[in-house]
Amino acid sequence: MTDVLLGIETSCDETSAAVLVGEGDRPELASLVILSQDVHRIFGGVVPELASRAHLRTLDAVVQRALVEAGLPLSAVEAIAVTAGPGLVGSLLVGVCYAKALAAAGGRRLVGVHHLEGHVFAPTLEDPDLKPPFVALVVSGGHTLLLDVPEWGRYAVLGETRDDAAGEAFDKVATLLGLEFPGGPHIERLAKEGNDRFGFPRPMQHDGFDFSFSGLKTAVLHTVRESPPRSERDTADLAASFQAAVIDVLVHKTVAAMEATGRSTVVAGGGVACNTALRQAMVAALRGRARLAVAQPRLNADNAAMIARAGWFRLARGEGSDLYLEADPMLAWPGLHKTDGGGQDGPGDGRESPSRRPGFAGPSPGPSGPPTSTRS
Ligand code: KG4
Ligand code: ZN
Repeated sequence: MTDVLLGIETSCDETSAAVLVGEGDRPELASLVILSQDVHRIFGGVVPELASRAHLRTLDAVVQRALVEAGLPLSAVEAIAVTAGPGLVGSLLVGVCYAKALAAAGGRRLVGVHHLEGHVFAPTLEDPDLKPPFVALVVSGGHTLLLDVPEWGRYAVLGETRDDAAGEAFDKVATLLGLEFPGGPHIERLAKEGNDRFGFPRPMQHDGFDFSFSGLKTAVLHTVRESPPRSERDTADLAASFQAAVIDVLVHKTVAAMEATGRSTVVAGGGVACNTALRQAMVAALRGRARLAVAQPRLNADNAAMIARAGWFRLARGEGSDLYLEADPMLAWPGLHKTDGGGQDGPGDGRESPSRRPGFAGPSPGPSGPPTSTRS
């Protein structure tokens, strides 16, 4: 029997729906629709109220389109995975309420997914043989995390940012350079034309697995204030210098984490992992020692396919959420635990792994079912 799962992502400024179809641990992506909210460009950042209103207006059409592209009627959908957090609470609420309504109306199983777990699962959509153990670098607009992943569902934090996330630094520096939001792709494009001539600091490069990008951002700010760019060339050199510093730090720490853990696979996920220069630098640094698994940009930036895939995993091992599922902007990542860095497997998270099940089709726990397992 084939399972059909609908994924929904509305945590920030992308309204997205995807359909996964298949059996066991090799589901296939039948469709993916991503509607990016352009309006935030005008304001230089995501405006929460506008984001949630746009999700409300468009989510139903996005879901209908994903079903049409999958060639399936809504009645074929057996389960729903939705981003429950972290993210903007109003935006998350739209997706969670919609998902709960669809689950209640059709007696479907429901699972709330942690957005960052989605980013880690993204490469498996194209590479179903990808399995832990691996080291994962998650670099998005809100997070920078270096993880050791001994098995799916267990994530040991080796390092994280102490201030700005990598994507946030890209966005803030882009604003300094007069570029549009979101800044990452604009910096990448400009950097191709420039040279790393400013020699910006590589913060904490040789200092453990934690990251810090706010000092680098301030260094760019001082340079721009002291000698404002006078030509396209100057701006391109600033972009290239900033990007080179971020990439050096990310690659250096990821390689160090790979060496410390002895893993031979590195997964990169999140919007910043769309950066081609980062991917190339990572592949070059890992050559002969580890392979890099990274999804194509469409699956790496925010999208519902990765949420569907992470939800598929959670449902397949017998987890799920009931109709009390809440949107939680600070949602804790189930299975995530801190380590002192560099450990092989790290301590467990204190939870027994529920037994694995071949598929997830089955009765919904319903409103009186057990409390959601997506919060820890
Ligand atoms: O994962 P994501 O799409 O959304 C969040 O979960 O935050 O990441 C968005 C971040 C933004 O900060 C954006 O500027 C950055 O990813 N980004 C990039 C690139 N494409 C997107 N950063 C550097 N280079 C890129 N090509
Ligand atoms: Zn994201």
